[in-house]
Amino acid sequence: MEVDEPSWLTLNRRAGETLRAALEQTLRDAIRSGALREGVRLPSSRVLAQSLSVSRGVVRDAYGQLEGQGFLVTRPRAAPVVAAVPRPPTPRPESEPAAPVPRYDLIPTTPDVTLFPLNRWLATAQQVARRASVTTLDYGDNRGERTLRAALADHLGRTRGVIAEPDQIIVVQGTAQAVDLLLRVLLRRGASRVAVEDPSHTTNHQRVREFGLDLVGQPVDAHGMVVAGLDADAVLVTPAHQFPTGSVLSGERRRQLLAWSRASGGLIVEDDYDAEFRYDRAPARALQGLAPRQVVQLGTVSKTLAPALRLGWIVAPLELVDELERAKLLVDIFSPTLDQLTLAEFLSRGHYDRHVRRARTVYRRRRDRLLTALARQLPDLPTEGVAAGMHLLLALPPGVSDTAITEEAQRAGIAVTPLSAFQLAPSAAAALVIGYGRLHESAIESATDALAKVIRTHL
Ligand SMILES: Cc1ncc(COP(=O)(O)O)c(C=O)c1O
Repeated sequence: MEVDEPSWLTLNRRAGETLRAALEQTLRDAIRSGALREGVRLPSSRVLAQSLSVSRGVVRDAYGQLEGQGFLVTRPRAAPVVAAVPRPPTPRPESEPAAPVPRYDLIPTTPDVTLFPLNRWLATAQQVARRASVTTLDYGDNRGERTLRAALADHLGRTRGVIAEPDQIIVVQGTAQAVDLLLRVLLRRGASRVAVEDPSHTTNHQRVREFGLDLVGQPVDAHGMVVAGLDADAVLVTPAHQFPTGSVLSGERRRQLLAWSRASGGLIVEDDYDAEFRYDRAPARALQGLAPRQVVQLGTVSKTLAPALRLGWIVAPLELVDELERAKLLVDIFSPTLDQLTLAEFLSRGHYDRHVRRARTVYRRRRDRLLTALARQLPDLPTEGVAAGMHLLLALPPGVSDTAITEEAQRAGIAVTPLSAFQLAPSAAAALVIGYGRLHESAIESATDALAKVIRTHL
């Protein structure tokens, strides 16, 4: 394999120095500095000679010298490769040692990515790319590919009762970017207070604070977020499946929330992150479908397909779309086109629905088995939020520290999150948030046994 010359390399030749010595010194400095790293292939003597306007013999001689000094490794008829050279270590800021891979991963935010229909995705991506015109590779629509926005409008209307024209949809890199763009728009509109559910997803707390906005925590109970006392410019809610308690926003609370928005002009941001996974409870329509002018709906494929795709969407009232589009333009211009077209095809051909159905069956079986195992091992501890999603709450008796349990669980090879990690205000309610997305069915009993052993020592 022929590689190009390092185009930044210039020969600094001191008075009286030969060309060979100058080249040798230049290459040695580049290797010592770490610019040419161990294992990097250098160009052939012909290519380097041409680019530096020296004779090939000069390069060959320099390479030979450097090999003799242990800086290069050469093989017959192959370009030299940079050898391992001891270099002073780059000082790094103190960082925590990486946590060992847990034996049981009960983290609530992660789906089972081994379920991802990789072959179907790759085949679809290939068909889409072959069919696409060459302009597809150019800069695309800031709001996202129209084909995807149209497919999403159909899909979200059918599955979630969302009411949206394709022009109200902005394709983004997951819910993370959706929240980021919305916060930018809110800030430009003069917002100062953003409310979130307490408890809720902690990265959203950080995002709100990062923008210098006041973060307001709104309590959550068995009926979802408490609306009374809400005082903010916008509120971020998870109505279909509160994260992390798993409660559903009741009909009464929905009415209260919409009334709050009408009266105050506050924006409701609906994070519809895992509504596809519902097992044994009545379906809850997206709030957006009840009040499309007051609610922004955020969706993602991170739970249904895979977080690595970084594909999500914002369904916004038309008056916000231009500002959101501008924010998207400034942040990263637009989302990767071929991935968007692949998702559009996945949706319109029914691959997405088929996959969600399959994944739902898998998660439901895991949930059932986990509930049986928990009831057997810890019969006195109630579970909550079990009717949907891929995590549940295991309530702990008052006075028990959920963080002490999770720290000990970690030492026992179990990654599990305390409810308190998601709380803004100190609360007496202690619980473990147990994700079963990643917990293979065959490991559920042994994981529960191991976790129960840790918990019992704290009861
Ligand atoms: C409440 C909530 N919303 C959304 C997401 C998905 O985020 P993203 O789409 O950025 O991957 C998660 C993932 O953990 C989540 O917990």
